[in-house]
Amino acid sequence: MSQIDFTGRVAIVTGAGGGLGRLQALALAERGAKVVVNDLGGAVDGSGGSATAAERVVEEIRARGGQAMASGASVTDFEAMQALVQQALDAWGRIDALVCNAGILRDKSFAKMDLADFRLVLDVHLMGAVHLVKAAWPHMVAQKYGRILMTTSSTGLYGNFGQSNYGAAKMALVGLMQTLSIEGARDGIRVNCLAPTAATRMTEGLLPPAVLERLQPGAVTPGLLHLVGDDAPTRAILCAGAGTFARAYITMTGGLHVGSGPDAAERVADAWDRISDRSGDSVPDDGSAQGRNEVGQAMAAG
Ligand code: NAI
Repeated sequence: MSQIDFTGRVAIVTGAGGGLGRLQALALAERGAKVVVNDLGGAVDGSGGSATAAERVVEEIRARGGQAMASGASVTDFEAMQALVQQALDAWGRIDALVCNAGILRDKSFAKMDLADFRLVLDVHLMGAVHLVKAAWPHMVAQKYGRILMTTSSTGLYGNFGQSNYGAAKMALVGLMQTLSIEGARDGIRVNCLAPTAATRMTEGLLPPAVLERLQPGAVTPGLLHLVGDDAPTRAILCAGAGTFARAYITMTGGLHVGSGPDAAERVADAWDRISDRSGDSVPDDGSAQGRNEVGQAMAAG
């Protein structure tokens, strides 16, 4: 078993003032990484803010002999993310890993949800990750090495009542990961998604105490360490909670060519079971696989 070691590496973890991010920052530092601990320090709904959350974690890291710097900037501020990347470069000369972990909740059923709450959640989760990655990407390309982790969620992958904004944002991060992993491959940049389940302030009211007891946030960290380590995979969605790890995939069924014509809609309806048949599932390498399958079957049908 080879040791996952971050000696000489520089990592930025957003939302690292508490919850999962704090433990991720501590674990990266413990294994040798120099860590930028970013956290706006607000409430679960994103209101308020203070740099002290990030500063406290930096103190913890330093007290254990590690190297860290704090940032109280919001991931929604692109210029602040550019400045944060520059600060890390000025201090430590490189950026190896980005952990896009910052997040908020504004839960309500879709019928009752304000568009402002929808936009804010997209802004923090999706644009927050875009801002940090955009700022660091040229440096990762230049050094031909990068590890990027998006924090997705079971809500994005599978849905959850009252979380349409959060689910849309979290699934958008999967889409971002799919293309960035393709674009980054030739420059040694690997991009993955982590879908955690953990007892943090975000979940404390949502799950029963006996379940939360099993879901220690530290049990997610080993998955994170693998996904940003030297031997990381790329384009993986790793589900992690309570020490259990599983993978989620975006699959496509083999499908069926039903052709066109006036009754094609009825033929789609009649063939629904065969169209849905998962025995020929694949995980496409990129988006062109869908078109290739469609045109290939059309040509085979004559
Ligand atoms: P948390 O609320 O303890 O951590 C989120 C952190 O992000 C907070 O410290 C908060 O201050 C920070 N943050 C919020 N907005 C920010 C901004 N604009 N800029 C910088 N920092 C900001 O909750 P938890 O559970 O640790 O969440 C971490 C990530 O994991 C989030 O992305 C969350 O959506 C995701 N997640 C958590 C799950 C769980 O079961 N706890 C389940 C699925 C996903």
